[in-house]
Amino acid sequence: PRPRVIFSGIQPTGIPHLGNYFGALVNWVKLQAEAGADDKLLFSVVGWHALTLPQDPRKLAAARSDMIALLLAVGIDPKRSVIFHQDHVQAHTELSWILGCLISVGRLQRMTTWKSRLAVARNANDESEIDDSVLNTGLLTYPVLQAADILAYKSTHVPVGDDQQQHIELARDIADAFNRAYSKKRRFFSLPDLMTTPSKRILSLTDPSAKMSKSAFDPKSRIELTHTAAEITTRIRGATTDSIQGITYDPVARPGTSNLLTILAACTGESAEACAARFASRDHGALKAAVTEAVEAALAQPRKEFTRLRAEQTYLADVAAEGAVKAREMADATLREVRKLTGL
Ligand code: ADP
Ligand code: NA
Repeated sequence: PRPRVIFSGIQPTGIPHLGNYFGALVNWVKLQAEAGADDKLLFSVVGWHALTLPQDPRKLAAARSDMIALLLAVGIDPKRSVIFHQDHVQAHTELSWILGCLISVGRLQRMTTWKSRLAVARNANDESEIDDSVLNTGLLTYPVLQAADILAYKSTHVPVGDDQQQHIELARDIADAFNRAYSKKRRFFSLPDLMTTPSKRILSLTDPSAKMSKSAFDPKSRIELTHTAAEITTRIRGATTDSIQGITYDPVARPGTSNLLTILAACTGESAEACAARFASRDHGALKAAVTEAVEAALAQPRKEFTRLRAEQTYLADVAAEGAVKAREMADATLREVRKLTGL
């Protein structure tokens, strides 16, 4: 089989949570273990994406370094995978500009993430009134930058959570548009494939109508990878459930209860349905105790390793610098060809 180029990114917007862990990070480590000798793996801390929302510069700088530590702590191996900061590789922004000129504004305005930002900016009482100040250009165009992140390495596979499906489809369309405009005979970019994880999307603990997210306002809505056993206990105890007797897996009628089962299943490797069957005649207290124990068992090791690595700032900077050299070499080679094809 053709060697794969596997690329994914994570925003340095805070400590990753259970959703990032089971939706992305665990899968990256698994891919790294299964990858063939010719496969390339790249994992990027995407700082430019973080700037689409207001960030405190000091906190952002710390979060960037923490994210390198976390990638290492969960088991990404810098000898096997390229670990780097997006903002260390200028080629991403240059490619983003070129690709942005191939995609319509209307297409970007139809992305669900943009539409949800627009909904927030709309005045609740007067739909025609929009608070334009919260709608920066980066929020509209960041899917193009994401496409550039992926295509700068001519990536073939993108392992991300299923919340990213629409963005990967856009990256494929942009790759195709580039090929049609500039490289008709030879398909310059291969169309990257989305690789979703077997584990289901993990929802907010306090509002199971939304996904668990780093940027959600309520900190009780998530469990972060560095939370202590006591913090895990408190947050699971406080998770929204329902007053229905017994435990069943029913994401529509019982989103909170089902989310706890999804988390338990992700920790133990079972299906959510199998977990539900085990707890069929038990109550929410018993389920929450089991989830708490399973989450603590899953997080104890990465938490310990993260704490150790966080004290090794020179090492973390070295890993990022070495990753940047490798990433630049690949991305710069792509950009040399892109410039030639586009007549620049
Ligand atoms: P966030 O939305 O929390 O800021 P990122 O945008 O940095 O997270 O996404 C990093 C990775 O984590 C992506 O692959 C994304 O699909 C995945 N991911 C984010 N939230 C969840 C979730 N609640 N459940 C499963 N996967 C998720
Ligand atoms: Na996000």
